[in-house]
Amino acid sequence: MSSAVPHHIAIVMDGNGRWATRRYLPRVAGHKAGVDALRRCVRACAARGVSILTVFAFSSENWNRPQEEVSGLMELLVIALSREVPQLVTDGVCLRFLGERAGLSAAVRSGLVRAEAATAGNTRLHLNVCFNYGGRWDIVQAANRLAQRGATVTEESLAAEMQMGQLPEPDLIIRTGGEQRLSNFLLWQAAYSELYFCNTLWPEFDEHALDLAIAAFCQRERRFGKTSEQLRDPAPSQQAA
Ligand code: FPP
Repeated sequence: MSSAVPHHIAIVMDGNGRWATRRYLPRVAGHKAGVDALRRCVRACAARGVSILTVFAFSSENWNRPQEEVSGLMELLVIALSREVPQLVTDGVCLRFLGERAGLSAAVRSGLVRAEAATAGNTRLHLNVCFNYGGRWDIVQAANRLAQRGATVTEESLAAEMQMGQLPEPDLIIRTGGEQRLSNFLLWQAAYSELYFCNTLWPEFDEHALDLAIAAFCQRERRFGKTSEQLRDPAPSQQAA
């Protein structure tokens, strides 16, 4: 059993639209409530000793949503950054955005750059926000970078070119909102992540819901291809390794 708090948690924050629809509100109101839930979650993760939190805020496929929702999400990002960054700085959070910037407006791109610069060097919690991100895109852009340099493709060289770079892979991936799929999130990095699905809609995901996910993680046996017996009683040569 894994007894420690996960070092790296990644979250598919699903259910904002349903949360809003149930309240007869526009979908963007659900995303606004989602920002509140994210703020709570960042604080709760830092308080529990989680080092890295990676969240899926806008997928490469989300451009296919109604124009009003897409522009609402872009506006929300810019507003959220100007409101939240000072507190993130105080709380020691280092913010990074993973994803393709080319398709984003100049206002959004400069907001990302400013937020990253303001929080660079903070070490208490690394918050990666996947925005205009897709796992397949991430693998392809990494492969293209290697190809441009004529470098050999290995697991290590490819991983180093991916958006997450040298950061360790997620130990735990949480998806809220009841669906049980990855939806093109961190496909490469999820190889050995523990997956946790819950029905809670993202705006209602609170400290208690986080603790349930962490408790479930602590019950899992992470074997990384080995047997339970090997984990319990490593051979002498493995102990030395
Ligand atoms: C999925 O819920 C959620 C998103 C596509 C957006 C997630 C964004 C946030 C939580 C807010 C943080 C965002 C920014 C801009 C900082 P859904 O809309 O698919 O929900 P549904 O499945 O109920 O329709």
